[in-house]
Amino acid sequence: MTVNRDWEHQLSDQQLSELDTALRAAQKSGLRLEQITRSTFPLGDFADELAGVAAELEDGRGFVLLRGLPLEDYSEEEAAIVFWGIGQYIGIPVPQNGGGDLLGHVRDERLQLKGQGYAHYSNEAQTYHTDSSDVVALMCLRAAREGGVSTIASSMAIHNEILASRPELLEPLYQPFAHHNRGEVDECSPPYHYSVIASYYAEKLSIRFGKTHIVDAYRDYPELGPLDRRALEAWELIEDLADKFHLDMDFRVGDIQLLNNYTVVHARTAYQDHEEMERRRHLLRLWLTLYNGRLLASNFGRNAGVLDAHGGRGGIRCRRDSRAESGSSPC
Ligand SMILES: [Fe+2]
Repeated sequence: MTVNRDWEHQLSDQQLSELDTALRAAQKSGLRLEQITRSTFPLGDFADELAGVAAELEDGRGFVLLRGLPLEDYSEEEAAIVFWGIGQYIGIPVPQNGGGDLLGHVRDERLQLKGQGYAHYSNEAQTYHTDSSDVVALMCLRAAREGGVSTIASSMAIHNEILASRPELLEPLYQPFAHHNRGEVDECSPPYHYSVIASYYAEKLSIRFGKTHIVDAYRDYPELGPLDRRALEAWELIEDLADKFHLDMDFRVGDIQLLNNYTVVHARTAYQDHEEMERRRHLLRLWLTLYNGRLLASNFGRNAGVLDAHGGRGGIRCRRDSRAESGSSPC
């Protein structure tokens, strides 16, 4: 059987040249990373091709791999500008944590967070889940010594397989459940939020999924009551089907992976790494609101249906977030 790899885009010499020119323009502008926009990271034809990538993310298969940035030619800071600049052509960055960070660093920080839901900051495996934004983009700066394989699966295929084989397990996916906020809220907000997992709205099906966020919320907050056993069975079936349908991404240094969180779930295997921080696996991460994104129902996701002052939605919002609208009152 031939494997279709249309999702893999090898960057051409022309595109790399455009990116390099844009990088030099952004550097010359003297702007901080987060102030760089399309106008200060100007691309030629590649801009249209990135609009095509955004269309592929929203209306196509929901994932793209841009391959072949020559990171050996760039410092880490320059690589971050290129990544941020590409991101500007796809969507609007939204905060990834309570501190309001718009550019994240995914690496083993050895923070001793075992069992607390912060697997992306460790070398532990991550089970299938989605992130809290329209799109998650990752740039691989350094690979692990061994392991750390990135895998994805179509949540559309998973949904349809449940419909075909266990239709009674679809119902709990359309009911709201509490999701743990992992402490990334201000003191005024509850420690969990409610969301449905599956949502059919404005003629599009969207899935957001993270079993551990739900299971941990019901474990830590007894006022939520016991977990519905049938719902638990549905979530386990999602993980089993993701395993069955999965695709390994073969994510290499210089690659940028982009996923639509509403149509694709992702996971990562555990990995072994170097002791020295500067040699460890290191990914840069953006959470983006697509310019061409779908409408979302108000009961789907955390902050998913509301646009912030920058046009972003989703992400992690705290009142202490410096980007939050001014004038918001304390609780
Ligand atoms: Fe993730």
